[in-house]
Amino acid sequence: MNGAPSYFSEEAYDQRLADFLALFDRTPPGVVRHVAPADLNNPKTQGQVDEAKRNILKLMAIGGLAAVAGGGAVAGALQYAQPPLKGLASYPTVQLFYSDGSAVTVDNVASHINPDSNELTLYNYPLTNEPNFLLYLGSPAPNGIGPNNGVVSYSAICQHLGCVPPFISYYPAGKCGNFNNGRAIIHCICHGSTYDPFVSQTSDGGGAAILTGPTVLPIPQTLLKTDAQGNIYAYSMIGPPVKDHFTSLTGGTGVSGRSQASNLTPSNQQCPA
Ligand code: FES
Repeated sequence: MNGAPSYFSEEAYDQRLADFLALFDRTPPGVVRHVAPADLNNPKTQGQVDEAKRNILKLMAIGGLAAVAGGGAVAGALQYAQPPLKGLASYPTVQLFYSDGSAVTVDNVASHINPDSNELTLYNYPLTNEPNFLLYLGSPAPNGIGPNNGVVSYSAICQHLGCVPPFISYYPAGKCGNFNNGRAIIHCICHGSTYDPFVSQTSDGGGAAILTGPTVLPIPQTLLKTDAQGNIYAYSMIGPPVKDHFTSLTGGTGVSGRSQASNLTPSNQQCPA
């Protein structure tokens, strides 16, 4: 995927599998979604893909390959077009690591993640191609753990049309003047949706609340816990399903064991109007 952040490229096979699942199971005809454009400062004018057209081209390509392979083109295409479903029966418990290899702990999180910086700490959960924000907000937040109960995690896939970092990112307190009374926000510059990481919006107590649309769903929250040594784990999700999923557990390969965080500092942030 050209221009994709590094945490997506490491699972190229799973991305292809997810594309096939989207082709046959999840993408309504004519849906246009955003993918990461090459120009980080121009997300509204680049990177739009007509899924229906793309899917037809994929199917034609598959059929053509099957024909070249020696007849039975239709049967071959259909067989290839139905990969085994991958997913999880339940949420895995996954230990979080920083990119330098050290474990994320309640003792070191404040020194690695600055609530006043827009640098993002991202890790994949519960599927290998799905980024989450790991945030230290510095003050109590719903389901927060660690210092000041301010360590929280949310899906980093926008609930509107699925934009991912750096297009959706964290804006520290004061970054955007009086917007949200000066408090930190999660903002997606693809179409302007904003979310409040300090406020839950769903009946189960999860989901960063909607501040502005066009999204109609809050962002799912990934729940965190610690072991006796203070190491931090992701272990479940609450709120709505991750964007484009019927449940957050299906549609790809599950993360297991540990998930390594990567850092990204968006250079394309624009405060909401
Ligand atoms: S994808 Fe439209 S606002 Fe995020």
